Amino acid sequence: MLLGYPFSFFTAFGGKLEIMSTVFSRRNLLIGAGALAVAGTSTYFLTKGPGLNTDNKLENPVELKSESGLLEVTLTAAPLETSVDGKAVTMLAYNGSIPGPTLRVRPGDKVRLKLVNNFSEPTNLHTHGLFVDPNDNSDNPFIHVMNGDSFDYEFDIPAEQVEGTNWYHPHLHGKVANQVFGGLYGTIVVESDQSPLATEERVLVISDASFNQDGSLKAPNMMDLMMGREGDSVMVNGMVNPTGEAKSGALERWRIVNACVARYLSLQVAGGTATLLGYDGHQIAKPGEIDSFVLAPGNRADVLVAIKDSKVSLNYTTVAHPDAGMMGMSSQTFDNYALFTLSASGTADPLSPPTSQQTLPDLRDLSVTGKRQFVLAMPNHAMAMESATMEGMFTINGEAFSMDKVNTTVSNDTVEEWTIVNNSTMQHPFHLHIWPMQVLSIDDQQLDPVLYQDVVTVPANGKAVVRVNFHTHTGKTLYHCHILDHEDQGMMGVIESA
Ligand code: C2O
Ligand code: CU
Ligand code: CU
Repeated sequence: MLLGYPFSFFTAFGGKLEIMSTVFSRRNLLIGAGALAVAGTSTYFLTKGPGLNTDNKLENPVELKSESGLLEVTLTAAPLETSVDGKAVTMLAYNGSIPGPTLRVRPGDKVRLKLVNNFSEPTNLHTHGLFVDPNDNSDNPFIHVMNGDSFDYEFDIPAEQVEGTNWYHPHLHGKVANQVFGGLYGTIVVESDQSPLATEERVLVISDASFNQDGSLKAPNMMDLMMGREGDSVMVNGMVNPTGEAKSGALERWRIVNACVARYLSLQVAGGTATLLGYDGHQIAKPGEIDSFVLAPGNRADVLVAIKDSKVSLNYTTVAHPDAGMMGMSSQTFDNYALFTLSASGTADPLSPPTSQQTLPDLRDLSVTGKRQFVLAMPNHAMAMESATMEGMFTINGEAFSMDKVNTTVSNDTVEEWTIVNNSTMQHPFHLHIWPMQVLSIDDQQLDPVLYQDVVTVPANGKAVVRVNFHTHTGKTLYHCHILDHEDQGMMGVIESA
């Protein structure tokens, strides 16, 4: 069963996007549990949010846009006193806002980004979805930016970068889940002349967090570490149930990012119709109307929403981990929960969604140089609860992550076919940095349309087959489970393209 897998519909219906709606409307149950701690804020300076959330108005995050091919930005990561759902809390933020500023760039741009670390742990930055160099001071996840230090990143976005929605977040092994749960994430919008017209554009970053009585972030317990932590408050742009305004009859572009550490989101637009334009920063060849869609942690969706009714909302329904019952978990479940609500009035010029878009090449037409298998496993799954250790509990091909080891070596300018096997009883969202994956099949069901993703859900006790076109960039980077607790505990490997 393809529980929670966003694109299983392709297979069952021979790849006809017209019927996406049928399969996208699956309903699921849940699981959950919250928690985490971000260490003391003592010696570091605490920012006050600029009246954050007080009126709970849905707004786009602050936007920083490139000019004449260059974007120069400073991102300062620091503790932030703010409020979530009316409660005073302390989180982490880039530039004093959750999410951090949206970086808006175009293919061919250069980004000079100074990361300032003003909190109590080392950190760094990953540009998830950008097709950029993984070395030196580019998208290099091996960099450590110590507390009190800063680091000058430089990203050259190639001309072939596709228009779409990507994001940034910390990537320091062992600390990623805590820092993302704490509030460190932001959107990267790549726009081009191919970006379709819309009346209005919204950047919608969905995240979750849990807090202690005193407003500090909750630390994860054993179960959270095992299943991946889910926060009690589910937020859009740092707010719980914000409201906003829309124009009746408008065609809005929604850029939706799942920045949750571990939460799968089944999403549905109510009061309007939704056309899926892009997924994981890649365009869908024949955009079609969808009823609902699933975002794994790390996934993004670009959706064109036609505003129909006077109230329009984005509704979230819980997606179960398959072994929820077995593990005896229970937590909040969400059923058609409005993440935000818009009131529509007035009128807008009518626009229509594009009927076709360009995709990257179909790698099924190319010959494959290498085939390999990656086995995701949670050995000692049951024992861990008793022994209270996660040691060696999350592996890829039998090994937990080690910084000094290259697990996989590929040759530049080759196409590889990867079979990702899941030997555990819960689904894992498999992510590869830099090079996008074309999804060929899930559990032996073939996908017909060309579909690129950078986070691919591998069903529990199932498998996914993808192809990857290794080109342009060489060097070392990572693949891992995007349930960030799993990544931090070792479900990650190093890949080198040479
Ligand atoms: Cu969004 Cu390696 O991560
Ligand atoms: Cu990434
Ligand atoms: Cu995982």
